[in-house]
Amino acid sequence: MQTPPVCNYEGSDYQTSFWEKGGRAYEDGCEAVALRRMLPTSGRHLLELGAGAGRNTPRYRGYQKITLLDYSRTQLEQAKARLGASDRYRYVAADIYRLPFVEGVFDGATMIRTLHHMADAPLALAQVRRVLQPSATFILEYANKRNLKSILRYWLGKQDWSPFTRQQVEYIPLNFDFHPAAIRSWMTAAGFTIQRTLTVSHLRIGLLKRALPTSLLVALDSLFSLTGNWWQLTPSVFLKSQADEKGTTAAENAYFACPACSTPLEDTPPLLHCTKCGAEFPVIDGIYDMRLNAPGGVD
Ligand SMILES: C[S@@+](CC[C@H](N)C(=O)[O-])C[C@H]1O[C@@H](n2cnc3c(N)ncnc32)[C@H](O)[C@@H]1O
Repeated sequence: MQTPPVCNYEGSDYQTSFWEKGGRAYEDGCEAVALRRMLPTSGRHLLELGAGAGRNTPRYRGYQKITLLDYSRTQLEQAKARLGASDRYRYVAADIYRLPFVEGVFDGATMIRTLHHMADAPLALAQVRRVLQPSATFILEYANKRNLKSILRYWLGKQDWSPFTRQQVEYIPLNFDFHPAAIRSWMTAAGFTIQRTLTVSHLRIGLLKRALPTSLLVALDSLFSLTGNWWQLTPSVFLKSQADEKGTTAAENAYFACPACSTPLEDTPPLLHCTKCGAEFPVIDGIYDMRLNAPGGVD
């Protein structure tokens, strides 16, 4: 199966440059509120898709186990340095389009600031559904093309693409904004029922961020975000959804499957070996490398 290219974060200092030194305390605070409102109080095993350097991972307090999955090994190294090598965390380098797990492993999943790198979002969502158990919770954040700023820019003639069409917009290579209606229909097609929508980052305006305390802006945003079920005009939107009843729950010790041929794999570090197609996957410094063409990707 040919899958779309991956947006490569190998060697990126994204966590430091974008979050820690990039003046994003407001956005981070807004996301923390959205996750607090949406996360179940307890769960068994959460899959964090596009976990990056593990910025959000400490927020998944109710889950007994967390698998951090990211295509970039160096992002996972940063996450591991931040979170430590506890039994609670599994670090897996893999492509979301080819998730290396058997069906129905996880009872929860999150995908924050990652769908916007997916040229084929429906394929990515179908993969997520496959590895979730029936009725599992899935929290998705996506970048909304129909936000107030893009509407105003379009009306003022400063932007050539329409924020109102369902077609996704690739504003820089492998970075996509989506229309809320398109996301809703893909979620339904993948087997998810949307339970709640929260709009996030209403006040992402440099002047406001400089003039007002972050805590005040986050408090205001958390009020405005309650309108998310009715309209979505923010650049970032969170969906809480539930997987349908179809599919199976994996056996207690079943976990990995070959990303090339889907055969279940024994968890045998330092090397996992597919008995069907012969593919091999190394485990180095506690990080499982389940990528088919590592390091791969495009810049
Ligand atoms: C913008 S970062 C977000 C990281 C984290 N979720 C956060 O909010 O701090 C996007 C992450 O998605 C990962 N990613 C992009 N495409 C991927 C793919 N096809 N499979 C797995 N991870 C991918 C990147 O490596 C990167 O770490």
